[in-house]
Amino acid sequence: MLTVAGVSAGYGSVPAVHDVSITVGEGEAVGLLGANGAGKSTTLRAISGLVRPTGGAITFGGTAIASMPAYRITELGIAHVPEGRQVFPELTVQENLEIGAYIPAARAERRRTLDLVFTLFPVLAERRRQLAGTMSGGEQQMLALGRGLMLKPRLLMLDEPSLGLAPVVTDIAFEKIREIHAMGTAILLVEQNAGRALALVQRAYVLESGRVVLQGSSAELANNRQVQAAYLGL
Ligand SMILES: Nc1ncnc2c1ncn2[C@@H]1O[C@H](COP(=O)(O)OP(=O)(O)O)[C@@H](O)[C@H]1O
Ligand SMILES: [Mg+2]
Repeated sequence: MLTVAGVSAGYGSVPAVHDVSITVGEGEAVGLLGANGAGKSTTLRAISGLVRPTGGAITFGGTAIASMPAYRITELGIAHVPEGRQVFPELTVQENLEIGAYIPAARAERRRTLDLVFTLFPVLAERRRQLAGTMSGGEQQMLALGRGLMLKPRLLMLDEPSLGLAPVVTDIAFEKIREIHAMGTAILLVEQNAGRALALVQRAYVLESGRVVLQGSSAELANNRQVQAAYLGL
């Protein structure tokens, strides 16, 4: 469904990722692992059109998207939940969710999708009138996930959903991501927490200094000595 082929991208004249190739199949859950600064966020930004690739090709459902504006990529069915959640702190939970459905197709089904998000995240339903900025980090992460779902995406890209969350809260967030995947949405999960990511995804890629240095099934990577030493603390 998503094919990233030999993509390079960066900021100004400074390259951040080089010749990155990854794929995500329909309904698949794929991980993108690596240390801080490895190029994980830049890869997601290149896919969602927030950073323009300087080389390579990206297709989604057979359509070339590498030179499309970000909103058109979103309309095709890719939702990007950015690093650090980026919810609107001065808006209520419900307003944040409603704004999430900003593309025409999602807007038309906004009521129904909102009900679905409230069913998946009861805490958001309870706090629908609360200002997002006054919620805990874990609650804001649920809100960011819910806002991504308001787009009714075929592919949900998540950038470090566990960042800054306590382990017990991370457990809840990952359980929700598992449920979203089980509902049929493909997931591209960026994580520094390789152990948790490998427990959720089917396959993963490891980025180092902007390049894919390893890829394989979750079991293969979890048993790889290099991965164990560098990312699993074994
Ligand atoms: N907005 C930016 N402007 C300039 N350089 C950036 C920017 N964002 C990231 N970089 C650089 O690009 C490289 C990859 O960063 P990033 O994709 O954020 O890595 P990761 O998400 O794996 O931590 C790093 O060297 C980082 O310093
Ligand atoms: Mg990042």
